[in-house]
Amino acid sequence: MTSTIDPTSGTPTASDCRDGETACGGCGISRRTFLGRSAAVGAVGVVATVGLTGCTGDLQAEASAPSRHPGGSPARALPAGDLPVGSQASVSIEGRTLLLHRESEDTVRAFSAKCTHQGCTVAPDQDRGRPTFACPCHGSHFDVTTGVPYGGPAQKPLTEFTATVDDDMVMVRI
Ligand code: FES
Repeated sequence: MTSTIDPTSGTPTASDCRDGETACGGCGISRRTFLGRSAAVGAVGVVATVGLTGCTGDLQAEASAPSRHPGGSPARALPAGDLPVGSQASVSIEGRTLLLHRESEDTVRAFSAKCTHQGCTVAPDQDRGRPTFACPCHGSHFDVTTGVPYGGPAQKPLTEFTATVDDDMVMVRI
């Protein structure tokens, strides 16, 4: 398995990318993996330096995602009865897709569904029998209670929103 640099664009490529995919996440090869491979190749700093340049857009996408939304007016997400304790849901509020996790009767966690890797829409799923928020694009998974990524190329947590349960309604400040 090799990682190389396209001499015309300076973009890293990977020989194990599938058709139609690109390196730096497009084929599931994260920049961590790419840089790890670059370092392993030992072709010295030049390879790693160019690898960083090729992934600049990826790095900027992650760096621009805030970890917590500043909050705003409370908006109705869904009736609390539609989100039993321990369950997850995806809701659309005022043009945003949000992921909800009901921790307890009184506690709901809410996260942006925008993947912190390259912006695909994350959705509730199961991972080895446990609930997860999963990205369909490159396989990142996020913890449903914290939004912290595990597995896949995403490194930053999903942006968290403030959620409450008021009068049997889940409310999110957006
Ligand atoms: S956009 Fe790449 S893992 Fe989500």
